[in-house]
Amino acid sequence: MTLAILSALPQEQTGLRALLDQPRLEQHAGREYCLGLWAGRPVVLALSRIGKVAAATTATALIERFGVTDIVFSGVAGGLGEGVTVGDVVVASHCLQHDMDASPLFPRYEVPLYGQAHFACDPVLAEGLRVAARAVQARVESHFDASVRRQYGLDAMQVHQGLLISGDRFVSAADEALGLRARLPEALAVEMEAAAVAQVCHDYGVRFAALRTISDRADDQAHVDFPAFLEAVAGRCTTLIVGGLLDHLSQQPS
Ligand code: ADE
Repeated sequence: MTLAILSALPQEQTGLRALLDQPRLEQHAGREYCLGLWAGRPVVLALSRIGKVAAATTATALIERFGVTDIVFSGVAGGLGEGVTVGDVVVASHCLQHDMDASPLFPRYEVPLYGQAHFACDPVLAEGLRVAARAVQARVESHFDASVRRQYGLDAMQVHQGLLISGDRFVSAADEALGLRARLPEALAVEMEAAAVAQVCHDYGVRFAALRTISDRADDQAHVDFPAFLEAVAGRCTTLIVGGLLDHLSQQPS
């Protein structure tokens, strides 16, 4: 098993690289890959940049060039579901591209010629992320300063599991978020990469899971909330939760 941790932006992985044993950098197709060991297991860290195509090329490189067998996407997202608020964590059960629409040739959201709109996450990885996120939630005061906890409501952090939707749009208007909620009522959060990576993993038979910390509510305030949250919380959440998953996996027989 070689696991990749993929994020769009460096702030979403701050701190993780320093925890790898024997780290080494490799450049490929305009991306930097950090290869190393976590508790003796091979791990690759990568940054995709933003959007579905950038995420898909990076995922493909991880599989084709670095031989990864598992990909976990970790970063931030806009909350859509009722009660999914800033500082919460969403673990994806499925992913869908909300901007895929080849109707009337195919039903809206269905990826043409795949016969499906939803791409399921690996249940073992997703459960590992959920358990790790719950462990962070239970001890949130030992992981974040009081001022950061107060600013982002982290003391009330909730862990959700369900549908994560992706599209090539930063959703920063309340009416657009409302439209997404009306059309896809089961969607918990919106971002710009996971469903593309899920599709690549489906093609290659690679296990996939995604974790998102909620940075904004995809409303008129989203572009203000997003960068500050990214700096203050996102990287630490990835390190804590994905670190928890890696520790959990390292206790399983290889
Ligand atoms: N990532 C974080 N917040 C987002 C939003 N509001 N729309 C799309 N991607 C996001």
